[in-house]
Amino acid sequence: MKLKYKNIFIFLLIIILIIFTCYLLFFKDNRFGDKNSDKSAYSSKSLKQIDKLNIKANIDIDKYSKTLDKAIFSNDFIKDNVSYYESIKYVDNDNLISYINILAKDGLAINEIDEIFQNFLSFNNFEIENAQRYLSYSYKNHDLSNQDIVTRVNLNLDKDFYTDTKRIEDQGNIYALVNKYNYVDMDYVPKNLKPLFNISSLKMVDVAADAYEEFVKGAKADGYTFIGTTAYRSATWQKQLYDSYVNKDGKDAADRYSARPGYSEHQLGYSVDLNDPTFTGKRLTDKDYEWIKNNCYKYGFIIRYPENKENITGYMHENWHLRYVGKDVAEKIHEMDITFDEYYDLYLKK
Ligand code: DAL
Ligand code: ZN
Repeated sequence: MKLKYKNIFIFLLIIILIIFTCYLLFFKDNRFGDKNSDKSAYSSKSLKQIDKLNIKANIDIDKYSKTLDKAIFSNDFIKDNVSYYESIKYVDNDNLISYINILAKDGLAINEIDEIFQNFLSFNNFEIENAQRYLSYSYKNHDLSNQDIVTRVNLNLDKDFYTDTKRIEDQGNIYALVNKYNYVDMDYVPKNLKPLFNISSLKMVDVAADAYEEFVKGAKADGYTFIGTTAYRSATWQKQLYDSYVNKDGKDAADRYSARPGYSEHQLGYSVDLNDPTFTGKRLTDKDYEWIKNNCYKYGFIIRYPENKENITGYMHENWHLRYVGKDVAEKIHEMDITFDEYYDLYLKK
């Protein structure tokens, strides 16, 4: 009996040894191998392709690179960039190889490209043409998240206000983003302007005018009285306003609360400034604002220039300025508690 047990023991030991050897042979390299690889070596198909491309002399064939393995089968493959493909850490992105080509052409070093890919490439609003700016902006803004770096650079916030400004293409769009980098034509006038129901001298685009009516009536039902003081403004009107503010307070101060002509959201016809006529002194009381803040999204409006966001919107807090964006987007912006500028870059731009 004793001998039988001994044999079983030896048999089990051999089985364990075989399993362990197999593990070392087939799995070890994967577990402890280079981070740039899932495999330890190029497949025979890859080796054939390497031969075909005639790049064997340029690479270390014994050191597997997943990025290079992808590059050799890509239509974007450029022979001169082989050393980039070989060294850059693999990131799962359809455009990986073409992005490497673009950044290599721009003269970026391998470690810089790695840093860009590791930190920013995974975000939906990543734009390759801004890649280098993400890196520079991140060095100066350690307090911001990588997502915020991408969004803010896309919005041009790494540049001074009113630099590299762009004409808005679809100026009548309900989601058009007007700010200190995006302008409308001086002669742009929205179609379908409609007088506001309780102050016919003011106009908004019809959908926004209807939403304004619902909003004002909803507020009334809750005991609040609001009326518009200004809604659609032409660029000429905006110029008169802006010039008068500059004369009064100087350009720097005026720029913090008034848009330059062509850069005012009021020209879109989707914005309205509110006043509480039951109260004299300020446009709105704190209580008014509290109600507006908690309820305007239900009617499709957002607070366009919220508290503490001047570095993003370009303007001091305006508790009276509402922008119509429709109920769905207004609700999301309310929930996410972000500016329209950020929301636009994250979800609305084409
Ligand atoms: N006060 C806002 C920013 C405007 O002038 O359009
Ligand atoms: Zn306004």
